[in-house]
Formats: sequence, C-alpha cells, structure tokens
Amino acid sequence: MKPKILVSRKISDEYDGLISTSFDKLDKNFFDSLNGKLKIIGHVGVGYDNIHTQSAKEKNIKVSNTPNVLNDAVAEITILLILASSRRIGEAYNLVKSNAWRDHRPDITKLMVGNEITGKTLGIIGMGRIGQIVADRARAFKMKIVYYNRNKLANDLEKGATYYPDLKSMLPNCDYVSLHTPATSETKNIINSESLKLFPKHSVFINTSRGSTVDDDALIEALQNKKIYGAGLDVFNNEPNLDKRYLELENCFVLPHVGSATHETRLAMSMLAVNNIKCFFSQKPLLSEVV
Ligand code: DGY
Repeated sequence: MKPKILVSRKISDEYDGLISTSFDKLDKNFFDSLNGKLKIIGHVGVGYDNIHTQSAKEKNIKVSNTPNVLNDAVAEITILLILASSRRIGEAYNLVKSNAWRDHRPDITKLMVGNEITGKTLGIIGMGRIGQIVADRARAFKMKIVYYNRNKLANDLEKGATYYPDLKSMLPNCDYVSLHTPATSETKNIINSESLKLFPKHSVFINTSRGSTVDDDALIEALQNKKIYGAGLDVFNNEPNLDKRYLELENCFVLPHVGSATHETRLAMSMLAVNNIKCFFSQKPLLSEVV
C-alpha cells in the first residue's frame, strides 16, 4: 500500500497557502498539476525530502520548514532508542505483555541481560543542532562523544567531543552510532555493507533522521547475522510500509517515526508553520525559508 497523498488537488488549487506534513508527498507531479494559485507551503517538519523543492522554486512557490523547535524531542527519542536497544526493552516488554514471563526460569545471567550505556562511546554522524543536543543528553550518562561532520565544530560547541574527518576512522571506535543528517544525495545509503563492516560487533546503530540513509538489505543482514549487537530505528525507507524483515528481528527496536511527537513540540512546529505563512502574506521575510 502506498502512503496516502493527503493534500487534495482541490485544496492546492483553491488556496494561496498550504500546511503540509511528512505524510504528504509533494512531488514533481503535484507541482505540475497546480493551477497557479498556491503561493506558499508551510511544511510542518524540519526534513522536507517529501517536497520536490526544485519544482517549487520553478513555480515560484515558497517553502518553509520547522527547524530547531523539535531538537529536544528528537534528542529524547534518540536516547530512548539507545537505552531500549541496549537493554533489550522490546523483548522485555513483549515478554511481560504476552504473559510469557512466568514460564521463564529466573536465570539472572541470561534473562533479558543487555548492555549498559554508562561510559560507552557514542559516535554521532552529523553534529548539527540535534546531534549536539543528543551529545549533551548522552554526557549525562557519562558517554564519551565522538563525531563525524563535514566541518569540525568550534571548541565551545564541541565540548570535548573528538572529531573524525571521515566515517571510516570513526566507526571502529564506537559502541553506539547515531545518525543525525538530513536526507540528501550525499547521505543516501551512508549506512551500507561497507560502512557496516567497520562497526564493532557489540555496537548499536540508531536512526532518527531519515530511512534513505540506510541500505536496508545491508543493515538487516548485519542484524540477522549478529554482525552488530542491535539497532534502534524511528525512521525507515518507504514509511509506513517498512521492510517486514525488521519486524522479525529481536535485536531491532522499532518506532513509527515519532521523534518529534510530543504535545509541546508538535504545537511549536505547527505554530512555526502558521507564522511562516503569516509572514509571507504580510510581506515579511520567512522565519525558516527552504526555497
Ligand atoms: C521532521 O521534522 O522532519 C520529523 O522527522 C517529523 O517529520
């Protein structure tokens, strides 16, 4: 089943402004079919890979997004995924919910024994706004931070984290790898069979950015064959129709793209989208313009 296109032709042809979410696929066909009335799209989301921005530009339609207001919520989900995949929370939760706990021998060396995160090394791919907040939260668990980014950060932003100029040299040093890059042609399949070979066997991969950064076949193969310890994933290729093999993996903790899903953050994102549209119609610069 394909994701639904929630923006109807009628809406986009009758209104001057549109609020979109990541469920709306605003591709080239969408822009080509417009009648010329639409002038601005206030997208609710920091990522806008669902919008064909080149077409928007060509049609002189402004697009805004909602950066920054979701940083804390996404960082919280990242920490949740780090903990859940290390402490086998998916398996543990299912054991209780399925009422199978009572059938297990209380073996303290085996039953749901996972890994501690305290003192471990977290490798962050993409040390932008969200990556930096994840690093701050992880420091509370005494995690050591290393990162790979296009540019080395200034010392006051780096806060003692170790910079690696390439993934190749960073990955072998990580217990955890968390990805915080936008979906671009540069980051497509950045997690692939070659990069996964560099992950230590005990390491855990976390993704709260976009599914397109991962080659599913490669990650699933690494998880199936225990080439890495586990993964915690909030985002997938082809959401919500993710590759079903993920569902069979005990060492993969999955969520339905809820990184920014808190009352506080979704309200802030929605208000920012509305305010961008208000700015546009009051001839003011947009608060967060994409194109
Ligand atoms: C974003 O803002 O891009 C989040 O992933 C929600 O879509």
